[in-house]
Amino acid sequence: MDTFNLKMNEPVGETRLDAGVQNVIGKGIDRFEGPLKVTGRARYAYENMTGPEVAYGFVVTAGTGAGRIKRVDTMAALAKAGVLDVIYEDDGPRASADPNDNMPAAIKGEVVHYGQPICLVVATSFEIARDAARLVEVEFEPVEGVYDLEAEKENAYEPPKGSGAMPSTVKRGNFDKAFAEAEVQFDVTYTTPSQSHSAMEPHSAVADWKDGELTLYGCYQLVSTNVSQLAKALGISASKVHMVNRYIGGGFGGKLGIGPESVFASMASRKLGRPVKVMLTRQQVYQATSRRSDTIQRVRLATDKAGRIQAIAHDTITSNSRGDEFFEPAGISTVFLYAGENRQVTHRKVNLNLLLSSSMRAPGEAVGMLALENAMDEMAEQLGLDPIEFRKRNEPEVDPQDGLPFSSRMLVECMDEGARRFGWAKRSAKPGTRREGEWLIGMGMAAASRKNMLQQASARVTLLGSGHASVETDMTDIGTGTYTILQQIAAEMLGLPHENVEVSLGDSRLPQAPGSGGSWGANSSGSAVYTACEGIVEALAKKLGVKAEDMTLKDGTVISGNRQTPLSQVLSDGPIVMTGNFKPGKTSQNTHQASYGAHFCEVGVNAVTGEVRVRRLLTVGSAGRILNEKTATSQCYGGQIFGIGTALTEELVVDVRNGLLVNHDLAEYHVPVNADVPQLEVVLMPERDHAASPLAGKGIGELAICGVGAAVTNAIYNACGVRVRDYPMTLDKIL
Ligand code: MOS
Repeated sequence: MDTFNLKMNEPVGETRLDAGVQNVIGKGIDRFEGPLKVTGRARYAYENMTGPEVAYGFVVTAGTGAGRIKRVDTMAALAKAGVLDVIYEDDGPRASADPNDNMPAAIKGEVVHYGQPICLVVATSFEIARDAARLVEVEFEPVEGVYDLEAEKENAYEPPKGSGAMPSTVKRGNFDKAFAEAEVQFDVTYTTPSQSHSAMEPHSAVADWKDGELTLYGCYQLVSTNVSQLAKALGISASKVHMVNRYIGGGFGGKLGIGPESVFASMASRKLGRPVKVMLTRQQVYQATSRRSDTIQRVRLATDKAGRIQAIAHDTITSNSRGDEFFEPAGISTVFLYAGENRQVTHRKVNLNLLLSSSMRAPGEAVGMLALENAMDEMAEQLGLDPIEFRKRNEPEVDPQDGLPFSSRMLVECMDEGARRFGWAKRSAKPGTRREGEWLIGMGMAAASRKNMLQQASARVTLLGSGHASVETDMTDIGTGTYTILQQIAAEMLGLPHENVEVSLGDSRLPQAPGSGGSWGANSSGSAVYTACEGIVEALAKKLGVKAEDMTLKDGTVISGNRQTPLSQVLSDGPIVMTGNFKPGKTSQNTHQASYGAHFCEVGVNAVTGEVRVRRLLTVGSAGRILNEKTATSQCYGGQIFGIGTALTEELVVDVRNGLLVNHDLAEYHVPVNADVPQLEVVLMPERDHAASPLAGKGIGELAICGVGAAVTNAIYNACGVRVRDYPMTLDKIL
């Protein structure tokens, strides 16, 4: 078996993808696994293994937010017919301090948040396990808990180095001096609540331990990372863990790390010597996995009279459990989005007795841009400038923090295109001037940006003489379209109809990819597939004794000069199997890479009730080459809907007496439903970013959620003159 390596030290120019011989790259073809999912043929984690040997676990969780466990009485539960065992932490290690997994860094015997997993009741059926779980008595010695970010903000501290996706403090120039001396100043604090990922599929796992080796059917986003996390939690070598994650019913960051379900299922299977299934209930998913942190964000802007920013600061406070230092990088966009000589972005953290806060869709930008883009709107008004004009006056030529060139940046083009399509010129700058009956109508806009994070990835591609190919990698598809995109890349590179490419994902025995997270999935795993295909093209050229660049691959044939040879002939001695190893290189360090966009929103605010209806929502995005128009657009729809929820309804409500999340299910935690979402519009700008990946693409998955909530709240202000500084904008805040 051969390997082909590519390290991206310089921009990759035009490729076979640009030639587009198969006319399949970029095309909005349907996800081929879609019909499998809607007809129940796609097997999700919990549906693996069904025989009578399978045992079922139910997690017992803490009914207090802070305390010491004095006694766990399992007698009554164990006495129940059908109950096999109760697994608790003395049976093996349960805690891990990995900042990106969903296991609390709990100190033995201590409860740090309400709903913290304590033990697992295992029985011959799910119903028996659930019933018996209620019979487990846990006695706590109460400890004083802290639950309220606002009340604890004086205790905020700088998280230790390396605990976040960026440094906790980033500065340039002298902010304080420049701010004090500037002609126009703005200083406002915004707050956002904790949020829940709320993926459709609850966290679930099936563990099957045989002869010292563990097979785990899971629903996680990052297979190779998750294998290491699980091995560490169980105190075994990662080589003993085989993880299978073929289909995943949504992630949004909530499945970036392993959860209690897989650790408990594995412990139980090891002890009982039979397969064990564990699924968290919807309530447990809310209480015992992870959340997006609540935030307090102070934004300060200072400009000259012409609206040129001279000083910009974004100081944020977020929360996490004690011992988990990961912080929401809420100021991440403020570092580079707008010009200004004097800059300051800080992140401080408060310890609360709440479940882990970790990454949720576009960690950082998604909440940080609520504050920044709302502030830009407020400042534009203070300056008497149109919000688009204000942003244009502060468009930086290079990264304003470190002076690096942008690999490509189409923010201005996105704003202009959006303004034209949306009819922005018809907006009245004065709030409350447009009325239709009871409804006040307003328009708002906001910028979008999401960092591009290319990752190392490998994939194996096999080309057969029959004109078929297969792609294999442990990359995941969380509903985003990975299966189909990788099929399209291989088809275009190898000159095959896309139906002839089979894609296998989500199995830890396959070559390692970085998984689905950070909007890097398609670009990174796709680059590995590209690399493997380049290796195959080289191998074919060698076989035919021609130069690769003189060769065209089309419809299962190789064309070189006036000779067209079918693959069956070229590969008469067997298939080519190629592992592509792709690594980011210097282009990721010597350019600043991000995707950009602009959101435009029109709302109606009911003058009598304060009810807000989003009437129109347009996002114009730019993310380099779009690999599949349909799946990319769908990702943006998802982001827009997330933004509507963030602006109007989503909020985890904490009972500050004990840390219970009061609204711990989909009935009470309000994600937008169809009736809340108008016909959405997404426009993706034609762009190639040759420094961002060999595919010339950038991350698109999380782009559209960034800033969109602020476009909604800026529209609310334009409609009725009420500024939202405390998200979500529920109607009690409007009246
Ligand atoms: Mo995303 S929050 O990196 O799954």
